[in-house]
Amino acid sequence: MRITLKIWRQPNSTEPGAMVDYALDDVSEDMSFLEMLDVLNEQLISAGEEPVAFDSDCREGICGSCGLMINGQAHGPEVTTTCQLHMRSFQDGDEIVIEPWRADPFPVLKDLMVDRRAFDRMIAAGGYISVNTGAAPDAHAVPVPKEKADRAFDVATCIGCGACVAACPNGSASLFLGAKITHLGELPQGQAERDLRVVNMVGQHDLEGFGGCTNIGECTAACPKEIPLDVISRLNWDLHAALRHGH
Ligand code: SF4
Ligand code: FES
Repeated sequence: MRITLKIWRQPNSTEPGAMVDYALDDVSEDMSFLEMLDVLNEQLISAGEEPVAFDSDCREGICGSCGLMINGQAHGPEVTTTCQLHMRSFQDGDEIVIEPWRADPFPVLKDLMVDRRAFDRMIAAGGYISVNTGAAPDAHAVPVPKEKADRAFDVATCIGCGACVAACPNGSASLFLGAKITHLGELPQGQAERDLRVVNMVGQHDLEGFGGCTNIGECTAACPKEIPLDVISRLNWDLHAALRHGH
C-alpha cells in the first residue's frame, strides 16, 4: 500500500508544533501501526532527519503507553490499542492523520509523546488499602462473592492509556477514575479506606485540570478495554456517600 501520513511534530513542550506530511510507498497490511511508524523512522534516520517520537513498550495491549489520535479517533478506527491496530484497517492511497492525545493535563513532551503522570498522581492520591502483605494468605481467607470478584476483575483491566480523556470533549478522566474506584470498592479489602479514597482521587482529578463528566459516552466507545460507562455512576455514588459520611 501507498499511504500519506500527516504527523504532528513538536520539538518540546514549550515550542509550537505543526503537521508534517510523509509518504510511505511499501506498507504491508500485515504490519502493525507502530511497525509502520518504525519503517518511517528508519527512513528518516537514513535521510539524516529527526525520527518521530512516540511511546510504546509492551506492544501487546497491556502497558497502556502507546496512545495516538489517528484520524481524530483515540487509538484509531478499531476498538483496540494503537499497538494492536494493523495496517489492514486502512486502504491503499489513504491519508492518515496522527496526533498526540489532546488534553491540557497531558502536555506534549515531543511529537506524539505526552506526559501522562497526572494519572499516576491520581492513583497515588488514592493511598493504600489496609491488607497485610508478606506471605500469601490462605486461599479464601477473605471470601469475595463471585459477582463482586468478576466485576472487580473486569474493571481492573483498565491499562491507564488515557484514550478516555483524549476522546472526551470535556477532557474528563471520569472513566479511568471510575474503573479504579470500582475495582477496589467492590472488594472487601478495599472497604476500610473507601470514603477517603474517592474524595482524594476526585480532588486530585480536578486539581490536575481534567474536566467534568456530562454523560457523553465517547470515553467508553474509545476504551480499548471496554470499561463500561456505569463505573462513573459508581464513582458518583461513592463520592456522595463519602460526603454524607462527613468527608
Ligand atoms: S478507562 Fe479505558 S480508555 Fe480510559 S485509561 Fe482505562 S483502559 Fe484507557
Ligand atoms: S505498547 Fe503497551 S499497550 Fe500498546
